[in-house]
Amino acid sequence: MRTEQPQAIYLKDYQAPEYLIDETHLTFELFEDHTLVHAQLVMRRNPARGTGLPALVLDGQQLELLSVQLDDQTLSSADYQCDDNSLTLHPRGEQFTVDTSVRIHPESNTALEGLYKSGSMFCTQCEAEGFRKITYYLDRPDVMSTFTTTVIAEQHRYPVLLSNGNPVGSGPGEDGRHWATWEDPFKKPAYLFALVAGDLWCVEDVFTRQSGRDVTLRIYVEPENIDKCQHAMVSLKKSMRWDEEVYGREYDLDIFMIVAVNDFNMGAMENKGLNIFNSSCVLARAETATDAAHQRVEAVVAHEYFHNWSGNRVTCRDWFQLSLKEGFTVFRDAEFSADMNSRTVKRIEDVAYLRTHQFAEDAGPMAHPVRPDSFIEISNFYTLTVYEKGSEVVRMVRTLLGAEGFRKGSDLYFERHDGQAVTCDDFIQAMEDANGVDLTQFKRWYVQAGTPRLAVSEAWDAAAGRYSLTFRQSYPQTPDGRDKLPFVIPVELGLLDAEGQDLPLQLADETTAHGTSRVLAVTEAEQTFVFQGLTAKPLPSLLRGFSAPVKLSFPYDRDQLMFLMQHDSDGFNRWEAGQQLSVQVLQELIAQHQRGEAFNLDPRLIQALGTVLADETLDPAMVAEMLSLPGEAYLTEISQVADVDAIHAAREFARTQIAEQLQPRLWARYQANRAQSRETAYVASAEHFARRSLQNIALSYLMLTGNPDVLAATLEQFEHCDNMTERLTALAVLVNSPFTAERAKALEAFAEHFKDNPLVMDQWFSVQAGSTQPGGLARVKALMQHPAFTLKNPNKVRALIGAFAGQNLVNFHAADGSGYRFLADLVIELNALNPQIASRQLAPLTRWRKYDDARQALMKGELERILASGSLSSDVYEVVSKSLA
Ligand code: TRP
Ligand code: ZN
Repeated sequence: MRTEQPQAIYLKDYQAPEYLIDETHLTFELFEDHTLVHAQLVMRRNPARGTGLPALVLDGQQLELLSVQLDDQTLSSADYQCDDNSLTLHPRGEQFTVDTSVRIHPESNTALEGLYKSGSMFCTQCEAEGFRKITYYLDRPDVMSTFTTTVIAEQHRYPVLLSNGNPVGSGPGEDGRHWATWEDPFKKPAYLFALVAGDLWCVEDVFTRQSGRDVTLRIYVEPENIDKCQHAMVSLKKSMRWDEEVYGREYDLDIFMIVAVNDFNMGAMENKGLNIFNSSCVLARAETATDAAHQRVEAVVAHEYFHNWSGNRVTCRDWFQLSLKEGFTVFRDAEFSADMNSRTVKRIEDVAYLRTHQFAEDAGPMAHPVRPDSFIEISNFYTLTVYEKGSEVVRMVRTLLGAEGFRKGSDLYFERHDGQAVTCDDFIQAMEDANGVDLTQFKRWYVQAGTPRLAVSEAWDAAAGRYSLTFRQSYPQTPDGRDKLPFVIPVELGLLDAEGQDLPLQLADETTAHGTSRVLAVTEAEQTFVFQGLTAKPLPSLLRGFSAPVKLSFPYDRDQLMFLMQHDSDGFNRWEAGQQLSVQVLQELIAQHQRGEAFNLDPRLIQALGTVLADETLDPAMVAEMLSLPGEAYLTEISQVADVDAIHAAREFARTQIAEQLQPRLWARYQANRAQSRETAYVASAEHFARRSLQNIALSYLMLTGNPDVLAATLEQFEHCDNMTERLTALAVLVNSPFTAERAKALEAFAEHFKDNPLVMDQWFSVQAGSTQPGGLARVKALMQHPAFTLKNPNKVRALIGAFAGQNLVNFHAADGSGYRFLADLVIELNALNPQIASRQLAPLTRWRKYDDARQALMKGELERILASGSLSSDVYEVVSKSLA
């Protein structure tokens, strides 16, 4: 815990390190009540910082210093200065060796940063600044060193001892202990260090690289999970092949290991050669993991593997450059998932997520550019903006340069910067140099926060056969108060004729038409593009594939949207037209509710969805996506003042109408797909995911009709399916239904069956936390008393508290403020246990500007109460203070 007010640090203050570390030699002695860490650092003055020998300031936190040596001399306390955050030494030559011994306490580390225990195993999480809780070090990513690590522990409790790189020796020690030594020949920053010790089993496989050499692949898990590793292993091999084929990148060590741990703050971590994963992102088999979980495992395995090049071989100079590795790697994993599954469905899911959550972040008090220019606590900047918007920025580079130009750029980037710690500017420079283009204006995407708006208007000159589109950029206010300059916005578009066919595109200054879908770069605040050679006024299809992370508006009427839903050659835009139609219809219902009028639903929405549902030629996953109305969180995001109750009532009314009016078609498609599920064993493939997604959305609609046959079908599916996707959907449908007896029975049966599987119990908590039935808070409080719940496990916190505050909007935003009070109490409690998790759970309260005055006052009141609650971690302090500023 801090003692003074935490200070912001600024990108503009960056300076290269005074000293470098060439070699790091670590020895860990693990005991039950403490751990000893001996470090030998082979160091030298950084030639880039000139001459002279300034003080050497090593980072260190929560370390008990036992001894320190400079070269061969043991220092006395007069020779160094030690405080809560650092150890200062005074080198006497340009090259020297520092030896330290410290004592640390992983057994009581609940922050899950540094070295800690997850159950009975030791593991580490060093990104971003966790290594300083292990030993005194230059804990910054531009200090890169080779590492040798020896781990010594009791043989019986910790038969498996792992660290980065290659194993170079092992053997028995004294008193029932043993040791293992690992050597990582690749220079890396300390945030990529990892250590694991435990009683683990592993599945092993071999991957043969394009160049012919074999790599050993191992996934380590607790023994009871050994049967849930196959999907992750298959995903890993697919990722390795894909990176060779698409980016020309091979793996570089002889062994690649993944370890699954139950207590983990995030999804996974790309430590060199030894990725450590939240078990939720590794373990998957039909009976216990949903289709969504299978896809997440595939994506996270790929993401962490891809970091070996985008992050590890080429790393970040400083933490302001985080998106250099994260934005790029999210883009890489998204493309991988698109290639492995349905490209259009993947894009729809990612865009829906971005628009709901990243746009909200960009409009809130923590809004920041993809490359932030200041922070108080770097852990708070592992955000949707750095990750997802960062990925969109890389995607726009590819859209502007084309796939081939982009590959030339990435080749140059990896070749030029291998072994270096670099900046986002270096990435763009490589793209520019490889393609002979100037991306100066484009780089504003890295420095300007907030989601740009792009208003589009049209004009038709029938006599000349000319159609023009005028684009106007505008920018929201952001907390930095800065004025914005125009972005480069790649707009992919097409023009449709009256039959729905794409027209050839010929701009006013072009002699012939080329293409029917083109990328226009909007670079000015206001800019008009004129198309010629047209015989009738076309209908534009704009921002195909969501070619830029902007809020585009065009005055479509509902008939035009229905037309685009059916005819647009771009699958993403067919879905998008349906979303826009739904938004228009839902906003009309919301207004009716607010005026106290009876609901009157535009029948065109039902008609449009009925057409989609009847189309057997469409990918069932697309049908499922198109049937999904925009979520309450998205409707909140696009509201000026979000009326939680009206949004919920309107959306539920629309869903019920859809269910009632499309009941026969929903039944037909439910039954056909359920029959197939019954006849075929579970397969984790795109085709099967698609079928189950349609089956399950149909079932959730059907339950709204109150038809007793649906209850019977739900119970049949719940009891007789062979996989978690069908079982959990049936359970969720029951939990949200009025059938209280059946609901209680199903919940109990499920918990009894899966009580020993923590990941399945997370699903059980989530389903109940998300139920919008009245009394949500009381249910959540009761569930916190369940023996399977603990605040010390981040997955449990996310499953219950996160799902309640983030997805159960009507209950969380109860007008009496009870939801807010509950969350604030929890944040105060979590602040002392795990600051990173506490700070993340705060997000819903930071959105207070979206709500009515009464709720705003209640939310701010709770933020103020947190601020006054005593000694806050820098994590929570930053979010609360910025939210109130
Ligand atoms: N670099 C990790 C990733 O793949 C992120 C991460 C994992 C992380 N654990 C963390 C970030 C703990 C901060 C704190 O995206
Ligand atoms: Zn990452």
